[in-house]
Amino acid sequence: MQRGKFITLEGLDGAGKSTHLTWLENFLEDKGIDVVTTREPGGTLLGEQLRALLLDPSQYMHMETEALLMFAARREHLDKIILPSLHRGEWVVSDRFTDASFAYQGGGRGVAFDKLQILEQWVQGIFQPDLTLYFDVPIEMARQRVQSVKITDRFESEHDQFFHRVREAYLQRVQQFPERIRLIDAGQPLHEVTIALEGIVQETLFN
Ligand code: TYD
Repeated sequence: MQRGKFITLEGLDGAGKSTHLTWLENFLEDKGIDVVTTREPGGTLLGEQLRALLLDPSQYMHMETEALLMFAARREHLDKIILPSLHRGEWVVSDRFTDASFAYQGGGRGVAFDKLQILEQWVQGIFQPDLTLYFDVPIEMARQRVQSVKITDRFESEHDQFFHRVREAYLQRVQQFPERIRLIDAGQPLHEVTIALEGIVQETLFN
């Protein structure tokens, strides 16, 4: 049986990932593909418990503890959900994956990139998504969208400088891995974003 494809979605909080994820799931299902949608941190029982701790605004933790917990949740996610699904031939679409750790813990918090690389190597070896869609929006737009939600989590309540650094780190990843990570301008009207998204998915995974 052919292994399924692994697609990840990335972007700042407020970039509109959830809307695009739902669209992508329907698009793939319409092609007759079995799709598993999941998220990070989370996706498993233990992962969701770690997520609750990681997002709880009343938690204080060292930035490296945060990075370790993200990768601990990921280890579990790979073992229980991602790899078994791919081996069954299903496609996995994950709302965030390792690029988020480089952007948020590396860029945002300042955890050394080489330490994150060690964790990446430890947890996933050479395994990488087949395609990563990075939804890029200006900070102001992302912030406005997040602040319109009443309760913000431990990341969403960070200051603008933090998000500038996160975005810079994402843009750097796009430059570093141009084959795998595709940037989509998510500041455009929704319809335009969807057209761009469809074009990329079609070109990279169905040609
Ligand atoms: P997010 O996926 O945006 O969910 P929601 O749309 O429900 O807010 O929230 C997850 C948060 O976790 C987000 O702020 C980014 C952060 N995060 C990291 O800091 N590092 C990581 O490795 C991952 C996967 C997520």
